[in-house]
Amino acid sequence: MADYRRTILQTLVIAVYTLTASLSQNVPPIQPVSYNLPVPPVLMGPMAANNVLTDGERVHPNQTKGVTSMVSTPDNLFASTVDSKIYDMARCPPRLIANLAAPGCVGKYQCGQLTSLRLYPANGHLLALDTFRGLFMVHPVTGSYRLLFSTNTPVNGRRPVHLNDMVVTSSGVVILSDSSDVYSIDYDTYICMDGRNTGRLMIFDPRTLRMSELQKGQFNFPNGLELTPEGDLLVAETCRAAIHRVSLQRNSWLRVEPFSLNLPGLPDNIRSSGRGTYWVAMSYARHSGISNPLDQNSRIPNHRAMGFRYVSLKELRNLFTKWGIVVELDKAGAIVGSLHDPTGNTLSMITEVNEFGGVLNIGSHIANYMIRFVLPAETGIKTSVDSFLQIKRSRCELPDSKVAEVRRQLLQKEQANTTLH
Ligand SMILES: *[C@@H]1O[C@H](CO)[C@@H](O)[C@H](O)[C@H]1NC(C)=O
Ligand SMILES: *[C@@H]1O[C@H](CO)[C@@H](O)[C@H](O)[C@H]1NC(C)=O
Repeated sequence: MADYRRTILQTLVIAVYTLTASLSQNVPPIQPVSYNLPVPPVLMGPMAANNVLTDGERVHPNQTKGVTSMVSTPDNLFASTVDSKIYDMARCPPRLIANLAAPGCVGKYQCGQLTSLRLYPANGHLLALDTFRGLFMVHPVTGSYRLLFSTNTPVNGRRPVHLNDMVVTSSGVVILSDSSDVYSIDYDTYICMDGRNTGRLMIFDPRTLRMSELQKGQFNFPNGLELTPEGDLLVAETCRAAIHRVSLQRNSWLRVEPFSLNLPGLPDNIRSSGRGTYWVAMSYARHSGISNPLDQNSRIPNHRAMGFRYVSLKELRNLFTKWGIVVELDKAGAIVGSLHDPTGNTLSMITEVNEFGGVLNIGSHIANYMIRFVLPAETGIKTSVDSFLQIKRSRCELPDSKVAEVRRQLLQKEQANTTLH
């Protein structure tokens, strides 16, 4: 009861304070519904706070805008950024592979904003998803690109407004999330304040260029996607702090089961670690040690309606505590590890964690660097020769002309070690 009153007070204080600031928003009003969120978790055990992200190595500071998604190959670390560029971060300085913003474009809606990057195995090219414009295929060396799907094309009667993440299935089709039917990425907070399940999943075949709707009405802010080894789909439901497993098996097609509930944050992209676990990046933290307006108002739609009318988006976002967090889930969805920046000063609003050869690269759409973390020896995970070379090259410590020779030496040493033991 006390909590409830405090929340009302907070909302009213904020409302009065900002009444003059913003009386109306230039987007359709929310239609808030009540929903239940479990009591936020306590940070203990594998969720215990640490300073790994606070202290992480900043890779290429001030060289790129915020990194949203990554693809690793033995030789490259491709990263997409909020300003529609794709870089190879395993070079020094980062090498610009492609700039998908058309010359002369004006503003984000025209110039685009990338939210997801994947390898298309059938031809080794990159798929780049632009939340505003559509799906691109990009040549990883020449950087030449083409638009495979434009958001000008309606899908089951409406144009996508918030493309967000994608996976490529073993049969070569792409499954994508469209997070809302009204609110673009610029207004993402409203999707949670609204609370209705207005997002959808879509399916695209790069061979026929046909996009269709796979499922809708199931999730409030479907966001990050990843495949399980069995070929099922994991879907992050951002506003519900949850991840669901959606069956892609014939006999249980599109059946939804909980995978990981009551997460200590609002999940963004999910990526396989390559070791049978998953890394989940969080845009905001939620746990017992901080207050957050989403949990406080989940059952009070009236508050959210007032917030929409009287509080600016910027101020709404400022109600969340800045705290960087990512978690590692096992194959059953249980949390087995977490990395934190409790200050939020190094990294918050985290978009994706990429693991390759014993090294984590972590992006945020508001940080102009990546955070790199080499998994320590006590985890039993060894840094691969490829990852070691990528680190050296990104730090300008290894010229291109020396790479082949150093790789050969390292592989020889590794071979000698294996033979000895
Ligand atoms: C990056 O830019 C900020 C702000 O201009 C500056 O304070 C900082 O020293 C720069 N960092 C590097 C490594 O250049
Ligand atoms: C070889 O083994 C030694 C001792 O176990 C270790 O310190 C070293 O890092 C290993 N070298 C390589 C290239 O794996």
